[in-house]
Amino acid sequence: MNGKGSGDRPVALVTGGAQGIGRAICERLARDGFHVVVLDRNEAATETACREMKAGGLSAQPACVDLTDHEAIRSLIGELPPLSALVNNAGIFDERRFFDLTAEDFRRAYEVNLVALFALSQAAAERMAAGAKIVNIASRAFLGARNHAHYVASKAAVVGFTRAMAMELAGRGILVNAVAPGLIDTPLLAALTPDRLAAQLALQPTGKAGRPEDIANAVAFLASPGMDFITGQVLLVDGGKSLGGGMGL
Ligand code: NAI
Repeated sequence: MNGKGSGDRPVALVTGGAQGIGRAICERLARDGFHVVVLDRNEAATETACREMKAGGLSAQPACVDLTDHEAIRSLIGELPPLSALVNNAGIFDERRFFDLTAEDFRRAYEVNLVALFALSQAAAERMAAGAKIVNIASRAFLGARNHAHYVASKAAVVGFTRAMAMELAGRGILVNAVAPGLIDTPLLAALTPDRLAAQLALQPTGKAGRPEDIANAVAFLASPGMDFITGQVLLVDGGKSLGGGMGL
């Protein structure tokens, strides 16, 4: 692996690492032996996450950056050792019915969910060595969902971008994959009304929301040094929701 960090560990950078799924990914990768750069725009939560990780014997450092600031992204990447793993997890979600959507809703969703992911991936990949991994967090919603078409479209774009990146970076030995979570119990779900949340849960064949650790598990596999022959794939981690059918017999 390339990119040695604190204590000679390979370096992983996780965006949106201060809470929710990102936080679980940070902890899992650190337990798997990475030095983890916890990137988030929420400064207090990022500092807390790193402090708690270090107290647990894990290797982590904060990077308080807003991903829409591309200059800041480039200068951060220039200061770090080449990354062995980049996990593009940060994303924004809100609910808006089709006839209430505006062009600005699309621009805001795309700016964080896709354009920032592109800018960071390009800056990081320029310095990565063969064997490095990029894992993008998409969403099961890329298959279609009601009341957030702008988010659905941005996550479908993440899937397309993952496949395109995988083809262009394969020659450098960099493997690029995506994980598409279903309903996962994090603060992001606060954007759903209780009725909408109940309706979503009723569509789960397994009848429950997933945990952030379920996503971290899949990311850890796709980012692991031994993973050497999977690229351009989308792993649905959704308790079977993408199968359709809900909880009935
Ligand atoms: P969350 O809202 O709990 O955490 C997202 C983190 O990203 C926050 O700490 C936030 O500060 C950070 N962030 C957002 N915009 C940023 C920016 N411009 N610059 C830097 N940091 C920024 O979200 P959650 O639930 O942990 O989701 C993580 C990823 O998983 C997102 O991409 C989301 O779309 C995706 N996802 C989540 C699902 C769920 O059910 N929770 C389902 C499917 C996908």
